[in-house]
Amino acid sequence: MFSTPLTHQQTRLLETLESKIPKSVPERHVLQARLKRYLPELLEGLAVYQPTQTQLEQLLKIMVTHHKARKPSLRLLDLERLLAPDWFERPETIAYVAYTERFAGNLKGVLEKVPYLESMHIKYLHLMPFLQPRPAPHDGGYAVQNYREVRSDLGTIEDLEHLTEALHQRGISLCCDLVLNHVALEHEWATKARGGDKKYQNYFYMYPDRTMPDQLEQHLPEVFPDFAPGNFTFDQASKTWVWTTFNAWQWDLNWSNFEVFLEFADVILWLSNKGIDIFRLDAIAFIWKRLGTNCQNLPEVHQITQALRSVARIVAPAVLFKAEAIVPPNDLIHYLGRGQHFGKVSDTAYHNSLMVQLWSSLASKDTRLMSHALRQFPKKPSNTAWNTYLRCHDDIGWAISDLDASAVGLDGYAHRRFLSDFYAGYFKGTFAKGLVFQENPKTHDRRISGSAASLAGLELALEQSDPRQVELSVQRLLMTHAVVFSFGGIPLLYMGDELALLNDHSFLENPEMSMDNRWVHRPAMPWEVLARLEQPVSLQERAQAQVQAGMKKLIEARVQTPQLHAAIESTVLESPNAHVFVFERLHPTGRLLCVFNFSDTAQVLPMWWLGTSQAIDQISQQPVRIESGGLWLAAYQYLWLLEK
Ligand code: GLC
Repeated sequence: MFSTPLTHQQTRLLETLESKIPKSVPERHVLQARLKRYLPELLEGLAVYQPTQTQLEQLLKIMVTHHKARKPSLRLLDLERLLAPDWFERPETIAYVAYTERFAGNLKGVLEKVPYLESMHIKYLHLMPFLQPRPAPHDGGYAVQNYREVRSDLGTIEDLEHLTEALHQRGISLCCDLVLNHVALEHEWATKARGGDKKYQNYFYMYPDRTMPDQLEQHLPEVFPDFAPGNFTFDQASKTWVWTTFNAWQWDLNWSNFEVFLEFADVILWLSNKGIDIFRLDAIAFIWKRLGTNCQNLPEVHQITQALRSVARIVAPAVLFKAEAIVPPNDLIHYLGRGQHFGKVSDTAYHNSLMVQLWSSLASKDTRLMSHALRQFPKKPSNTAWNTYLRCHDDIGWAISDLDASAVGLDGYAHRRFLSDFYAGYFKGTFAKGLVFQENPKTHDRRISGSAASLAGLELALEQSDPRQVELSVQRLLMTHAVVFSFGGIPLLYMGDELALLNDHSFLENPEMSMDNRWVHRPAMPWEVLARLEQPVSLQERAQAQVQAGMKKLIEARVQTPQLHAAIESTVLESPNAHVFVFERLHPTGRLLCVFNFSDTAQVLPMWWLGTSQAIDQISQQPVRIESGGLWLAAYQYLWLLEK
């Protein structure tokens, strides 16, 4: 995190590099200062490539080009963010995640919806993959054919630039998916490789026969065992076996090739100059491969991230990296910087465990496993933030370790099985309606698709026209979001969850989507419903209006609660009541105690444990009565308590 003094050799290298920066470059001194600041960490990261002087000069040339091209408004943004390095950690940072076409038709449409985003205090918009993908199927855009074009039905690069400018004027950042692990089979690099071009064949992993793939497969898990089994695909054109971790048409890139690094350094800076603020580093865990390992989370991944981040900091310091690493806690923490990478890699990362534990506790009505697992969670660096969320566009994998389960007297396998049964709707008495995604016959792993509202019970309750169950499902949605909004980090609100949208089965009618049931929880925004919610009539509309109002309240409370700054970690407390999840956030302005009842019956926290009899609920701004018997919480009630 601290700038390291340059060694003798680095000073000489810096002088040589500086001499290559043309005198005419605007703000040359700024570029020089940043180069000096970041050179040690850039070189440390690039050590994976042992780059030659010429290769370093190639990289410098890319940086100089984009430094020259950076617009004055973005240079000002760089300055503003350098002056407020915690800009993304502040409680007012609330993110909204949406598919462009499903939210607003296209990029121009997004512009029209900005008032809606502002009405929810959104400061960060993640539009799902919008760069040009291959023709469908393209994994929701995660098979990019051209990183320098916008998906043709969504608009143009000019529209993107226009959008980022308009968002910036309103203090909203834009997050873009950057798929690093693979490109579409139709990407120019893959096309050339298929045509026999050796330079581009070296961009991928292509094997003449099954010898290497067979050896590698022994240690590789399958990401899509159902519709894309195995990790290698035979390519007819080149007559080789190509590494394809995900779908057959997503070709894994060979990141051990410095040329690939240069290509992405160039793409990142180019997109940054179009106004992108945050890069979601898609499937980052997979980018380095080594025989005999599961080819995930290898140390080189962090070195490469560090090098890419140094490049971004030198040219576009306003830009953030968000790691999409859905991996166990002890691997995950490295994406936010551990050991030598402290403060030098991604600024934010998904808190997958919190999401999984929320669903687990809702199903079991017991918070002991969640409390235990989160208490074991490694601490993050204070200058980084978690991305907390309840739902996203992907399935839910039951990432609960055997160790955590056994610590609270559960069998890990049985509990994971219970959760997939519960959320698939197989378990007797379940409230959830979800779908099984990618059942793996070898590991018996069963992931789940489904919208937050359907998984939380609203769909079933409406089918049964049961007002009490509807009420409970609304409370479940609000209570879990109350955790997401207060646990610490940037809450990601997934489009439609603010309106409790149910599962949408229309994907089954589209042959390009019907194989992949994650589309069930990627509905289109029903703007007409939104208008109706002002005067809700049906049971469903009333539930939606309640969720919408409750969510707004949470957001409004969050932005006024300094204790929710992401620099501070939540301390999960040992709760005296197994149904109640409790954590505290210690901040110089006072202690915030957040309590959540995960059961559908009233629960109490005893007075002796609370140690206080007077508190204000930061959400309702009302004093909370704590009687001698303790603090009573109604079914799924949640409070953010500020001691008086
Ligand atoms: C990420 C995305 C997921 C996609 C995968 C392959 O995990 O979130 O939707 O299928 O990467 O790109």
